[in-house]
Amino acid sequence: MKVDGQWCRAIFAEGGDPAVVKIIDQRWLPHKFVWVPLDGVGDVISAIKDMKVRGAPLIGVTGAWGVYVAVVNKPGLQDAEEYLRQECGHIREARPTAVNLAWAVDRVLEKVLAEPDQGKWAEAAKAEAERIADWEVENCRKIGEYGADIIEKIHREKGGVVNILTHCNAGWLACVDYGTATAPMYAAHDRGIPIHVWVDETRPLNQGSRLTAWELLQHGVPHTVIVDNAGGHLMQHGQVDMVLVGSDRTTYAGDVANKIGTYLKALAAKDNNIPFYAALPSSTIDWETKDGVSGIPIEERDPDEVRFVPGLDPRGDITPVLIPPKDSPAGNPAFDVTPARLVTGIITERGVVAPEEKAILELFERG
Ligand code: MRU
Repeated sequence: MKVDGQWCRAIFAEGGDPAVVKIIDQRWLPHKFVWVPLDGVGDVISAIKDMKVRGAPLIGVTGAWGVYVAVVNKPGLQDAEEYLRQECGHIREARPTAVNLAWAVDRVLEKVLAEPDQGKWAEAAKAEAERIADWEVENCRKIGEYGADIIEKIHREKGGVVNILTHCNAGWLACVDYGTATAPMYAAHDRGIPIHVWVDETRPLNQGSRLTAWELLQHGVPHTVIVDNAGGHLMQHGQVDMVLVGSDRTTYAGDVANKIGTYLKALAAKDNNIPFYAALPSSTIDWETKDGVSGIPIEERDPDEVRFVPGLDPRGDITPVLIPPKDSPAGNPAFDVTPARLVTGIITERGVVAPEEKAILELFERG
């Protein structure tokens, strides 16, 4: 995607041997656009844990590059395989909900360990991390086309502007490029279909008002930021034509884990007969878990993310401000699960599929 007219991806490797992996520190967006290097495994883990990078596909790709960073920082004396397995274990555990992380780390680790010449490990890790990043970008591009077909159909049937409600940021910042939920919006907009996006601010970390709004602005897509609780009211008054969100983990039976608050949007959409779509690449599908409510681990994050809200102060600094009484405790579950029965369809790189076990397994040729 373009930032101020310049093409960029949310993560990339710069230079030769060793390459420097760089990320955008998303904590400061939209007010500051800062690239930071990942010089060691500690940086990789902190980038994921502290949400400098976030969003399931990007967490996965960062994990993949993390294996490369571990290889190039391998200390000489230790048993190399044991060291690498340990470091990969730490990276894998940085955040629990997005299944992409373990998937990508394991895939790169497997490629590296299959290389008998340790002198070629860095090369193997780099090639695989690049392959995963390119694959995810292509997946998102395809999701964009399939999703735009749905938006186009709504536009043909309804006429006029298609109003889409989204939650959190499932944009290119969350996915290397294009995004999952945003890819159809960009593709529809580029096809000339008039759309308008309701952007949930998405407390506590405001990925909607900070990141999705910024992305849409960069791409010239008309949008309005709303508080998280406005969606139901807008739906009741005919101002939402579809809900389109991403996912951090989706079970093979179609239960969708996404940013906290998504489930409430799905309930309101059902009550108002509005289609609710989740857009996600197959790397986000959990092939081991059927029931999302009981089976998907929901990350519990620092209560201070709820208590303090950072924003741009008049001096131009980003400053956290305390909202509740300083002695009130806060709780911070980061995701919730929308059961398949509330999901109209899942938009994947292979097409749109019903949120049903048989259909999902068939589409991805899994016995
Ligand atoms: O906690 P985050 O910011 O990593 O959560 C991820 C999200 O932004 C979403 O829940 C998103 O909708 C799915 S990831 C493309």
